[in-house]
Amino acid sequence: MTALLEVDEIAVSFDGFRALDSLTLSLEAGELRCIVGPNGAGKTTLMDVITGKTRPDSGAVRFDGREITRLAEHEIVRLGIGRKFQRPTVFPGHTVFENLELTLHGDKRVLRALFARLSPADREAIERTLSLIGLRDHVDRPAGLLSHGQKQWLEIGMLLMQDPKLLLVDEPVAGMSQGEIEKTSEILASLAGKHTVVVVEHDMDFVRTIAKKVTVLHEGRVLAEGSMSDVQNDPTVVEVYLGA
Ligand SMILES: Nc1ncnc2c1ncn2[C@@H]1O[C@H](COP(=O)(O)OP(=O)(O)OP(=O)(O)O)[C@@H](O)[C@H]1O
Ligand SMILES: [Mg+2]
Repeated sequence: MTALLEVDEIAVSFDGFRALDSLTLSLEAGELRCIVGPNGAGKTTLMDVITGKTRPDSGAVRFDGREITRLAEHEIVRLGIGRKFQRPTVFPGHTVFENLELTLHGDKRVLRALFARLSPADREAIERTLSLIGLRDHVDRPAGLLSHGQKQWLEIGMLLMQDPKLLLVDEPVAGMSQGEIEKTSEILASLAGKHTVVVVEHDMDFVRTIAKKVTVLHEGRVLAEGSMSDVQNDPTVVEVYLGA
């Protein structure tokens, strides 16, 4: 199998501090990868580089057969990389349905989207997403009235409307209740296969539930990679991260 994403010897420095240090990793199409590591390990910076928000000092990022290292953020989005930030950014005054509708074709041209008639295919795409994120019963509620967890799921749904090949999710379960955390693992696990998903998360119980392959970052490098039990039993990982 060829890799969907290759991060090749990426280095990023901030005022002489090495946030990413010759970081190399690759993702197969359809996998769900968890990335863990202590605060400041470079996890968010890695997502910033993949999405074009931060330009690396050296190294290359290749996605779906082409180099994307120097592309602009919107070009990278258009190639099929979606990113979910920690804070949900739904439109609070619009219903769940409208939020999904607004992101249908990757644009947020509010008026056009709202007044255009939905094609049967569009409607079907929204219905499918609603089932996936479990918000069918809330379809007519304003997004501002949803719980924190529900807003996060809606935002995942909004990203899915653009049918990304790769979805990057940074700390999805922070601030969620136990029930919401479980639901989130189901949602993310159900995306694998059709999408490639990268989840950065500190909640190790959550990671244990969804992880197939785990990458441990430390000081801007890959410290360990493998199954959850491989990395959990790696003495270096225990020392720098899990032992705390
Ligand atoms: N824009 C920036 N300017 C200066 N330093 C930065 C910048 N972004 C990140 N850093 C530094 O780079 C290092 C890596 O940060 P990063 O946010 O990638 O870590 P992280 O693994 O996501 O940590 P956390 O688990 O706390 O979210 C940290 O020391 C951070 O302070
Ligand atoms: Mg971070």
